Amino acid sequence: MADQSYFGDRENYKSMEELHRAVLEKEAQIPEEGNERGPWWMYVTIFLVLAFGFFYLGRYYGEISDRPHVLFSEAPDETVVTEIDPMTAGRQVYTRVCQSCHQQDGSGVRGAFPSLVGSEWVTGDPARPVNVVLHGMRGEIVRDGVTYNAAMPGFGRLLSDQDVAHLITYIRNAFGNEAGEVSPEQVGNMRQATAGRTEAWTESELNSFLEL
Ligand code: HEC
Repeated sequence: MADQSYFGDRENYKSMEELHRAVLEKEAQIPEEGNERGPWWMYVTIFLVLAFGFFYLGRYYGEISDRPHVLFSEAPDETVVTEIDPMTAGRQVYTRVCQSCHQQDGSGVRGAFPSLVGSEWVTGDPARPVNVVLHGMRGEIVRDGVTYNAAMPGFGRLLSDQDVAHLITYIRNAFGNEAGEVSPEQVGNMRQATAGRTEAWTESELNSFLEL
């Protein structure tokens, strides 16, 4: 039986020498490791990717320009100072700090959190809502015939004078309320005047403190 190998029928080679020559010739054709040619589709793929890349760059290239971006050129003149709208800023503080109890529309939760809509404690003397926010409020109160007896924490440490001013201005003019603005100076003065206070106000404490 002829031994069929890679180099064909061994019996076709007359001598060992001839066989070796064939082997050497064949091996000479095998490229060195690392120098093998890749498959044809690899060259085609590389060509297509490059072609697409050049097309894309050509179509969408940008350029460096000293012209300002349209949006920047529309920005207001630097000399115009944009005033912060207290209602917008106040609403942000309200949403973050107060809304969970007094609700988005200020109507509160009957029997648990009093309504801020039309409340004398919101629209009356501004020192009252400022103090409630700075130090909190506790004890029994009756509003619209409903009794409330829960505790509201004070937020004096969390909120700046500016925050409180925006916030009180907001609750005095949101929810259909209408009352004057409160300034950061007013809040600062009140904060100083009550600096030693560590407890939340009861209704009668705050009224007598403010002589209301
Ligand atoms: C954890 C719930 C809670 C949060 C948060 C809260 N409050 Fe209160 N608030 C209450 C409760 C409860 C009362 C009534 C306290 C009492 O029974 O004496 C109250 C009372 C008030 C009052 C007095 C209303 C009235 O008619 O007497 C005002 C004003 C007020 N809160 C404003 C605010 C503002 C502004 C914020 C955000 C800084 C705020 N509250 C955050 C629970 C809360």
